[in-house]
Amino acid sequence: MKDKQGRTINYLRLGLTDRCNLRCTYCMPEEGINYLPRRELLSYEELLRLIRLLSKNGITKIRITGGEPFVRKGIMEFLHALRQIREVQKIKLTTNGSLIEPFLPDLKKLDITSVNLSLDSLRAERFADITRRDTFKSVMQAFQRMLEMGFQIKINAVVMADKNTDEIVDMAMLAKEEPIEMRFIEEMPFNGQGLRLPESDWDHLRILQHLREHIPGLKKIPSGPNATAVRYTAPGFKGSIGIIAAWSRTFCGSCNRLRLTPKGTLRTCLYDTGTFNLRDLMRAGATDEQLLRAIQEALLHRAANGFEAEARSTSFRNESMAEIGG
Ligand code: 5AD
Ligand code: SF4
Repeated sequence: MKDKQGRTINYLRLGLTDRCNLRCTYCMPEEGINYLPRRELLSYEELLRLIRLLSKNGITKIRITGGEPFVRKGIMEFLHALRQIREVQKIKLTTNGSLIEPFLPDLKKLDITSVNLSLDSLRAERFADITRRDTFKSVMQAFQRMLEMGFQIKINAVVMADKNTDEIVDMAMLAKEEPIEMRFIEEMPFNGQGLRLPESDWDHLRILQHLREHIPGLKKIPSGPNATAVRYTAPGFKGSIGIIAAWSRTFCGSCNRLRLTPKGTLRTCLYDTGTFNLRDLMRAGATDEQLLRAIQEALLHRAANGFEAEARSTSFRNESMAEIGG
């Protein structure tokens, strides 16, 4: 599958649920969240049908995200079924880590060992302030377990002015001690409150400058061809540091992803407001051919980058990252 600009699409990000057991301030309001009724979620059968179709047409990598994927019942059975689809070579997870520990042995058996772990602070109290929940211990325990079990771990920290910038260096040092990628993400205004945040002056350039000032010998290393993170390492580091210009959007030119939201909306960009709903088409009896044609049609209109996608969307969003699929 190719888009309007000729970019090959081989990566699907799948929001398995909009629900989460945490309430990170940059993602969700504290209360009054209108979670989707269950029947509005794509069922596992519907998901597998779509993934079979997409993987026959070039999708080779899938990231399961949310919300928190492990709050959805039956996720392991779903992952098991997903593993049977041969064309899907890579299955990866994004999780807050608070519920994952009991599933680690089975994940390992399924060879699903690449995990992006959301962690915005290394201090228990601050973690509780940011996430509005008290799961720091279980997250850190799961992190340790994953390290012991040889999982490939990337830690995602959203950089928030006045909230955790004083920990950037401490968090970066995790990549010295452990073979992980510690990634710093520009905050985006998808916090589910319809509020556009004042633009943070902690953009990717400032994050890099800050790291350079505190970590001697920081040097750039190659990233994959479709990577969103620009990567660095330093002498004595077991791992690497990544900076993701999620709001500055410097990486759109090589974007290879499609997103499917929990309720089945296809998005060709994080910044668009959705193209059409695959669930509704399926429930109205569409054939695989009709589904594929609709997807290809959406790709023909795909915006060149996140700025164009944002400009095209009619209203500024009050969505949460959990509804989009983080
Ligand atoms: N800005 C930047 N990143 C965000 N995430 C969630 N909300 C935001 C936001 N407003 C990221 C978190 C998490 C992933 C699911 O999405 O880092 O790891
Ligand atoms: Fe949950 Fe992730 Fe949103 Fe935090 S960022 S509330 S962990 S979905």
